[in-house]
Amino acid sequence: MTSSPLSTLGDETARALAAIEAADELGALDESHATLVGRRSAFVALQRSLGTLAPEERGAAGATLQEARRRVEEAFAARRALLESRERQRRLDADRLDLGDVVVAQVPWRLTLGHPSLVASTQRELEDVFVAMGFKVADGPEVESDWYNFEALNIPPAHPARGMWDTFYVDLGEPETVVLRTHTSPTQIHLMEAAVAGGTLPVHSVMPGRCYRRDTPDARHLAAFHQVEGLVVDRDITFADLAGVIETFTKAYFGEDIDARLRPAYFPFTEPSAEFEITCTICRGAGCRTCSQTGWIELGGCGMLDPAVFDAVGIDPEEWSGFAFGFGIDRCAQMRYQIADMRALIENDVRFLEQFS
Ligand code: PHE
Repeated sequence: MTSSPLSTLGDETARALAAIEAADELGALDESHATLVGRRSAFVALQRSLGTLAPEERGAAGATLQEARRRVEEAFAARRALLESRERQRRLDADRLDLGDVVVAQVPWRLTLGHPSLVASTQRELEDVFVAMGFKVADGPEVESDWYNFEALNIPPAHPARGMWDTFYVDLGEPETVVLRTHTSPTQIHLMEAAVAGGTLPVHSVMPGRCYRRDTPDARHLAAFHQVEGLVVDRDITFADLAGVIETFTKAYFGEDIDARLRPAYFPFTEPSAEFEITCTICRGAGCRTCSQTGWIELGGCGMLDPAVFDAVGIDPEEWSGFAFGFGIDRCAQMRYQIADMRALIENDVRFLEQFS
């Protein structure tokens, strides 16, 4: 019996399968395609040798050969798919951007957390001082009618005292005059109206908030600034109560070495009225540019509630008395932190702002 031309088929198939399994790279696998299953493979040579078989044997031998070749082609395709997907994964891994690395390594500035502005934190501290003294905290609108900002405060139209507040007018196309509040005093009117309507007198409240004046900014003034209004309406309130509150507040907020003084002044909505000054903290009273060489800094105004204001809100001045005060929050921050020029508060220079984080 002549040896079959397919006697080496088993070995050739096993060798091809082993070579496919051993191929670790797509390029190498593809290069070996011709020798493993293609033109130069053992299968093509064996195919040719089938011609030496008797015609009746050729069919079965051809089928065996085709079956072996199909198995090798399948193994090749499967290996190729596997290597291809490995290759894709390797590319993805190499291309991945770790954003954490990018932010830390490449962004030139530090990421810093913000903090409340000096004005905001000063407002909070002032509120705390007054809450500790028994006051409640309230607020009110920044856009007011002429009635709340002036008339109810005993400042009728054309009253010469209007010159004390350079006013921004808001043109809403309405007959009523509307203004940006020039002080927090209109909140006095809102609170007293609400207390009368709700039957909740007495009132002991402070009302912090932003105010606006058509002033040219300078070392002590901003066109948009902040005040704290204080209002007490109760029975048997005297000027001594007012002076005591001012004194207590000054020592509590600025420290024992800072003095407060009241000087006679005029406000249409209080009688008597006073200006409230403290020792200039920048020169400690010696006199400097910020206090215009006086040694004192004006913080605000105060006085006993005028009967005309009680009248405007319907409170009986025979039964109730009270006082009000209003002073600058920005001015307090300036004095507390010895800021020679208040405009630094709104210039947003981070070197300045970071000192108060
Ligand atoms: N509203 C006054 C001002 O801003 C200050 C003040 C408040 C005076 C309360 C008396 C009573 O100038």
